[in-house]
Amino acid sequence: MPDSLDFAARYGPWAVVAGASEGVGSAFAAKVAARGVNVVLLARRQAVLDEVAAQITANTGADVRTVAVDLAEPTAMGVVADATADLEVGLLMYNAGADAHYRPFLAEPVDTALAMVQRNCVVPAQMCHHFAPGMVERGRGGIIVVTSGAAFGGAPNMVAYSATKAFDMLFAESLWAELHGHGVDVLSLILGETDTPALRRIREQRGFVDDPEAPLPGAATVDEVVQDAIEQLAHGPSWMVGAHLREGIKVFGGMSRNEVVDLMTQASGATMGEDAT
Ligand SMILES: NC(=O)c1ccc[n+]([C@@H]2O[C@H](COP(=O)([O-])OP(=O)(O)OC[C@H]3O[C@@H](n4cnc5c(N)ncnc54)[C@H](OP(=O)(O)O)[C@@H]3O)[C@@H](O)[C@H]2O)c1
Repeated sequence: MPDSLDFAARYGPWAVVAGASEGVGSAFAAKVAARGVNVVLLARRQAVLDEVAAQITANTGADVRTVAVDLAEPTAMGVVADATADLEVGLLMYNAGADAHYRPFLAEPVDTALAMVQRNCVVPAQMCHHFAPGMVERGRGGIIVVTSGAAFGGAPNMVAYSATKAFDMLFAESLWAELHGHGVDVLSLILGETDTPALRRIREQRGFVDDPEAPLPGAATVDEVVQDAIEQLAHGPSWMVGAHLREGIKVFGGMSRNEVVDLMTQASGATMGEDAT
């Protein structure tokens, strides 16, 4: 892992973190700020962003800018571009992207799926296209796209989600292939079940949490994800967080696509329950 001076020289002076009000995004922002990189925090809830920003400033002395923006809106990229126009951005983490609904495709209006495509595919593509040219020009920088084990196979209740996560994974891998020769590190950061506030909320809604204070058994921690993100950024194109996920995914190697879908369906049902119709 590069030390703080190297890290800031390679990825500073500013990082943009999309989805930074809690969980992986806020912890990643705090960690890179502690390494001397100023941070722009993006999420929808301004009050929560303000709290995260105050804590990062108090703990690190880094400059922090918050932008309340809904990344599922078509105007999002314009808002972010305006808010960062005066900054040299050397690091982008696109973290926002979970599915707060976990519902069958036909149980929701099609706009729910399209908003997921906008937030998880269109906007990260726009952001990479916006921020990467400066990185290429400077011959240094980093981009992390957070994706999911859901990218490896289809399953019910995640029709749009798993498809967008497959997009994110291949988008980042291909972008790595184009940019790493220009000094820009790109990483597809693949998460399995991870103990974030968002996952806890949906599991609680679905009656899956007995003790809200207890760690989710088998889930990766946010700290583990952030540590891997920083350690693996220079070793793209791809990294799966957690031995559990890395081992689990190996069984797909010898399977047909039909068998993969069958297994993904069983696994997601065991974690999140059956259809929510
Ligand atoms: N948790 C897991 O088990 C798990 C498993 C595999 C992959 N992942 C991936 O890990 C990433 C983080 O997941 P998570 O569980 O922390 O949940 P998440 O719902 O993606 O929340 C992460 C952050 O994104 C922000 N966000 C969500 N929707 C947004 C929108 N429309 N506009 C702006 N900001 C938005 C949230 O803040 P606001 O609510 O304030 O906007 C929050 O700060 C996602 O990409 C997800 O696919 C998670």
